[in-house]
Amino acid sequence: MSKTIGGLLKQATAHLSTRGLENPRTDAEYLLAFLMNRSRAFIIAHPEQRVDSQLEARYTDWIAKRGRHVPVQYLTGEQEFYGRSFRVTEAVLIPRPETEFAVEAVLDLLQQHPDFSHAVDIGTGSGCIAVTLACEAPRLSLSATDLSPEALEVARENARTHNCLDRITFLPGRTLEPVIAAGNLVDLVVSNPPYIGYAERDVVAREVLEYEPAGALFAGEDGTEIIGELFSQAPSVLQAEGFLVLEVGYQQALKVKQLGQASGWKHLESRFDLAGIERCLIFRRA
Ligand SMILES: C[S@@+](CC[C@H](N)C(=O)[O-])C[C@H]1O[C@@H](n2cnc3c(N)ncnc32)[C@H](O)[C@@H]1O
Repeated sequence: MSKTIGGLLKQATAHLSTRGLENPRTDAEYLLAFLMNRSRAFIIAHPEQRVDSQLEARYTDWIAKRGRHVPVQYLTGEQEFYGRSFRVTEAVLIPRPETEFAVEAVLDLLQQHPDFSHAVDIGTGSGCIAVTLACEAPRLSLSATDLSPEALEVARENARTHNCLDRITFLPGRTLEPVIAAGNLVDLVVSNPPYIGYAERDVVAREVLEYEPAGALFAGEDGTEIIGELFSQAPSVLQAEGFLVLEVGYQQALKVKQLGQASGWKHLESRFDLAGIERCLIFRRA
C-alpha cells in the first residue's frame, strides 16, 4: 500500500538527521510540500493522506540527494529573490538575501538621479540583480555579463519569465571587457562578483563548496582578483557622474575600500546586511 505523508516525513527526517544537516525536518517537509504542490502547513495538517508511488519515488530520490548535501534550491530548481521566483541550476550561484542590499542601493541611486537610464550587472549568474532592477525600474536598460554561457542561459530564462528580456542585453565575457567592446557609457556598474579567497576554502560550507560553481565563488588567493579588475576597468564604461556598487565578502570591506582608494575611487557609502556585516559598498571616481 502507498505511504502516508506522515510516514514519508518520518522516514526522510530520520535519514537526513544522520547526514549532518542543520534542519532535517524542515527540509523533509519543504521538499515534500514542493513535490505535492502544497504548502508546508497542508502537509503538516494531513499526515494521514496517502502519496502516490511515482511521487514517493521522486521524493526518495530527492531525500537521498539532500542527504548528500545537494542544496534544496538545486532540487526544486528555484529560489526567491526580492519577492520573485528565480530559476536556478547548478550552473549558477543560488541568489542570497544579502544581495538584495546591492539592489536596494542601486534603486536608491536611481531615485536620486532621475536622469540615469543604463546600468550593467557584472557576473549576473541567475540574473537576479539585473532582472530585479529591470522589473523595479522600468526606465532602466541593462547589460548583464558572465564568463559562463550556461549561467547566461539561465539569466535569459529568468528575464523572459519576468517579462524584461527586451531591456537586458546579455553579454558573454570576462568582467567589463564585453561592455567596453560594445562601446556604451553607463550610469551604474553593479556586481556581486566572486569574492572568496582560495585561502578561505576550508571555512566554506560543504554544500557551497561541493555544489555551487567554483567560478562563482573564488577570486584569487585573497578573493579580490575580480574586484581589482572592476576597479581598473569601470572608468572606461562609467559616465563621469556614475557609480560603482559592489557586494563584498564577510570581513572584506576594509580591504576593498583601500583597494578602491588606491585605484582612484572614493568610497561614498556602505550598506550593512541583517547580520550587521558591511556588505555593499558604493564608489564614485575620486
Ligand atoms: C557570486 S556569483 C553572483 C551571481 C549573481 N549576480 C548573484 O548575485 O546571485 C558571480 C558570477 O560571476 C561570474 N564570473 C566569475 N568570474 C567572472 C569574470 N571574470 N567576469 C564575468 N563574470 C564572472 C560567475 O560565473 C558567476 O555567475
